[in-house]
Amino acid sequence: MPARWRVRQPCFPSIPAPPPEHRTEGSLVTNEQLGGNSHIDPTIPSTNGFGTPQASDRNSLSVGPNGPLLLHDVQLVETLAHFNRERVPERNPHAKGSGAFGVFETTEDVSKYTRAAVFQQGTKTQMLARFSTVAGEQGSPDTWRDVRGFSLKFYTSEGNLDIVGNNTPVFFVRDPMKFPHFIRSQKRLPDSGLRNNTMQWDFWTQNPETAHQVTYLMGDRGLPKTWRHMNGYSSHTYAWINAEGERFWVKYHFHTNQGVENMTNDEANKMAGEDADFHRRDLFDAIARADFPSWNLSVQIMPYEEAKTYRINPFDLTKVWPKADYPLIPVGKMTLNRNPENFFAQIEQAAFAPSNMVPGTGISPDKMLLGRVFAYADAHRARIGTNFHQLPVNQPIVPTNSYTFDGNMTYHHSGNAPVYAPNSYNRPWADEQGPVENSWETDGELVRQAYTLREDDDDFSQANKLLNEVFDDAARDRFVETVAGALATVEEPVLSNAFQYWKNVDEVIGGRIEAKVRADAEAATPDGDAGDKIPGADPHEERKAPVAGGHEETTH
Ligand code: HEM
Repeated sequence: MPARWRVRQPCFPSIPAPPPEHRTEGSLVTNEQLGGNSHIDPTIPSTNGFGTPQASDRNSLSVGPNGPLLLHDVQLVETLAHFNRERVPERNPHAKGSGAFGVFETTEDVSKYTRAAVFQQGTKTQMLARFSTVAGEQGSPDTWRDVRGFSLKFYTSEGNLDIVGNNTPVFFVRDPMKFPHFIRSQKRLPDSGLRNNTMQWDFWTQNPETAHQVTYLMGDRGLPKTWRHMNGYSSHTYAWINAEGERFWVKYHFHTNQGVENMTNDEANKMAGEDADFHRRDLFDAIARADFPSWNLSVQIMPYEEAKTYRINPFDLTKVWPKADYPLIPVGKMTLNRNPENFFAQIEQAAFAPSNMVPGTGISPDKMLLGRVFAYADAHRARIGTNFHQLPVNQPIVPTNSYTFDGNMTYHHSGNAPVYAPNSYNRPWADEQGPVENSWETDGELVRQAYTLREDDDDFSQANKLLNEVFDDAARDRFVETVAGALATVEEPVLSNAFQYWKNVDEVIGGRIEAKVRADAEAATPDGDAGDKIPGADPHEERKAPVAGGHEETTH
């Protein structure tokens, strides 16, 4: 064997076969199907992407050892050119995250609510989870205060089902038109490129429906200890449909079996400096040592008709359904037991979308969800490419027969089968007509208008309950501390708006927040004149940047 073809020992472990329990309703899911490196054999001599031997992976072709390089060094040109194209754009939002594969088992009989195969008792389904922060970029610290994404993809026998939720049961806004504005307010200023608390609080205070989610975010759960120690929620109301075609409204709750644990502001700030990848590392290491994290899935079910008259708009994403009205019904358990073998192929290129539904599941009239079923697949086409669904990590375990064709990087194709429907050549096409199962009644003029308010619909009372009935005294103290810290650099008039925002949630807590911000500002002033130091009080004062990694960082 020529020296230049010498085999170097691969520096990564061989790829383990999936454990036998990774069967999805009878079919074994192979590693290749989920992103294994099927065409790459890291044990053979180095080749280029076309399979022919490489000359050298360390010396360019030059005229003598000290001479100029040559354009016909195909290997160098290829190496540099491909390197320039190694990244895909990061997600906007939820750029920083990671995940793992696992299995979901339906342990209970919920067939009276849904006929989805994945939710039939005894079914085990291969799945992928990805956890993330929202506002930070790829390299941002995992422990900045933020909502955490909780994305799940179930490779079911009826196609992929994705549940793309967060670690909070509610969200900031309830109209998709506001979403890009919201995210931009949490990201960076147009001039300096810095995060900015005034911008964040300006958005929140201008949109009082954010109060419930901001209360969550500024509370203890805004800093989960690890991804393993947080719950996941669909947040939205989705549809379930049973074998008889009966419809139900459903909210998914994934409760951690590791227990909910959080960090303090100090711990999180310290960790942001010490190990920006703390959560990513924690999950990977736990799975590597076979300490497999698990979550129990329960659902809240609302009978279809009740939604019409329930005292709270059940499709308003800023509200929870009180458990006294809709108790949790157990469904099953998800366990993450396999790390990605390749982060880029299996996590960065993973594409989660609320539009991925299976028979027996569906969407609801939640306006945000209706916006999301468009937004994600469109983001994937832009971020990954037209045929992102053909990548192993995104493709279903069942065969497809799709009439969407061609485009960049087409890999799977339908040969010379008819490319149009209907056709006379026996290629099946879909032809359902009449009312659809995943439906609801609606009629009316086309308007641009917020949801009609119901009896108990207001922006502050659920936030107030969270503060006063869920948080204890110590948690309320930490909350005041956190909000006051987050407001420390906020300018007028946004600062006064923020005081009023919290007084609308709770007069006492709002008063405490204002007193603390003013006292802190005064303490920071040598002559004790707080007026000078209230951020933004002086219109000529320079705009302040947020404290990097501080607890003011936030999210979607
Ligand atoms: C109309 C409102 C929303 C829009 C337009 C929107 C849009 C997006 C977009 C474009 C991405 C990046 C997707 C990608 O490049 O792969 C994303 C990611 C994400 N969003 Fe949203 N989003 C909305 C609301 C929500 C809500 C309400 C939740 C949670 C209940 C949520 C949870 C997530 C999660 C978890 C991710 C990360 C997905 C992953 O892990 O790949 N989003 N969102």
